[in-house]
Amino acid sequence: MTPTASSPTADRTTHRTTARTSDGTAARTTDRLRTLVGGIRAAVDRGLPPEATAWLVADALRPHLTAPDLLTPAQCEGDPDRYRQHVLHAEPDGMFSLVALVWLPGQQTSIHDHVSWCVTGIHRGEEHERRYRLVPDRPGARLEAAGDLVSPAGTVTAFAPPGDIHRVCNGGTDTAISLHVYGADITRLGSSVRRVYRLPADR
Ligand SMILES: [Fe+2]
Repeated sequence: MTPTASSPTADRTTHRTTARTSDGTAARTTDRLRTLVGGIRAAVDRGLPPEATAWLVADALRPHLTAPDLLTPAQCEGDPDRYRQHVLHAEPDGMFSLVALVWLPGQQTSIHDHVSWCVTGIHRGEEHERRYRLVPDRPGARLEAAGDLVSPAGTVTAFAPPGDIHRVCNGGTDTAISLHVYGADITRLGSSVRRVYRLPADR
């Protein structure tokens, strides 16, 4: 979920491996990450509806999620100013993309929703999420809390819009790292965020 709602730092690295981003650059990666990308591709290529695709992708992500050899040290680096996004892969045909988000304690997103189906898995640490529903409130609308979720390492969630409004933060005391798979090429779109909500909201 979550990404780039607050314009995290994108990290497009240069290369030496086979994984490729949509602009044709190769991204430094691990063997395990290449295996994971292959599993995601197989799930997406089945051509199922968005929610079913997301759950298949979740199944592909789960076995690799907490493996210590999944990410390179560079892909685990954070940013003291805001949560940081590392682009891990963008499928050349634009059907999916994969990022790692690194959250230092207290870093969080805006309240937002997404352009496509999304699968999120916690690689390290713990993320706190508040979900919202949009409700009428004259003269406009407000956001009502619809649930709070604490996700430790190994947790995988999948969803497809609509109804995916949320805010995510690292509410723990250690760095948190999460993987996010989107049913779109966010390197072309610039972000997975469809809309940032600046409305009165339950805190
Ligand atoms: Fe999100």
